Amino acid sequence: MPSLRRVSIAPMMGRTDRHFRYFLRLISRHAWLYTEMVVVPALLRGDRKRLLDFDPTEHPLALQLGGSDPATLAECARMAEQWGYDEINLNIGCPSNRVTAGRFGACLMADPDLVARCVEAMRRAVSTPITVKHRIGIDDMDRYEDLSRFVRIVASGGCEVFIIHARKAWLQGISPRKNRSVPPLRHEFSHAIKRDFPHVEIVTNGGIDNLDSVAMHLGTLDGVMIGRAAYEDPYLLAGVDQRFYGDTTPPLSRPEVWERLIPYIERQIAGGGIASRITRHLFGLYRGLPGARAWRQRLSSEVGRRAI
Ligand SMILES: Cc1cc2nc3c(=O)[nH]c(=O)nc-3n(C[C@H](O)[C@H](O)[C@H](O)COP(=O)(O)O)c2cc1C
Repeated sequence: MPSLRRVSIAPMMGRTDRHFRYFLRLISRHAWLYTEMVVVPALLRGDRKRLLDFDPTEHPLALQLGGSDPATLAECARMAEQWGYDEINLNIGCPSNRVTAGRFGACLMADPDLVARCVEAMRRAVSTPITVKHRIGIDDMDRYEDLSRFVRIVASGGCEVFIIHARKAWLQGISPRKNRSVPPLRHEFSHAIKRDFPHVEIVTNGGIDNLDSVAMHLGTLDGVMIGRAAYEDPYLLAGVDQRFYGDTTPPLSRPEVWERLIPYIERQIAGGGIASRITRHLFGLYRGLPGARAWRQRLSSEVGRRAI
């Protein structure tokens, strides 16, 4: 059976919040969505409702966690399951200094045994699927054999889905932003992992910005994850349901998406929210079309005055 994660939208801090996800769901009913990364201490000590709440229409939805302690990750996994998430994903791909200092994120690629223990602890705690998002390597540990060893060991902890950001990360010297463009993409590593581990689901990620590329990867892999392109040009997803999920319902047009968002924005404002927190995600809706600039201007000026 084909994977339900055939097309997924990458976790992105500051972008894939619940408002953006609500908006995307109006464009694709099937694309698998991810939250921003939520770090374990925030979830244990912070405002859980704010960190975990989502609209029921956002399903299927995965919570991404950042952490490296099996016991507290298991506790967070329990919370995520109670909250109704469809997947719990562990971030082994973030190279930021802050994250590395906290000993989680991409630096854990050097310690696959610990990642396996984290996955195992979460698996024991919940029945929700546990997945891992990682790089193809870090620093000088970037040979295919290193990646293959990582996948073998983490799979032995019970991970059945690997989301591979197909470039390595430099842990020193370059920013997280540069780490998303400077190290070259090597999707062939994801394809080789699928060949060598046919029983696990492999999703590849990095630089994919059109549905023909998605189709090409799906010839071999179980899924494709799209990040920046989905944020910059969200209507790209309008073709996803028909092309990759066999859903014959035509997608909403751009004006229909906007019409459906208005009551949502009104509800958020009535609950004390701020319109621009939602509309800031909509700038790309008309990307590449005549009038795109006027749309962006209208969003900034009129919403600034709250006249939605
Ligand atoms: C603004 C921004 C924030 C990101 N935040 C996260 C995050 O919280 N967790 C994570 O695993 N990856 C994060 N990423 C990386 C993306 O999930 C993805 O792996 C990366 O952008 C490559 O995919 P793309 O080329 O399709 O954008 C972030 C990327 C961007 C652009």
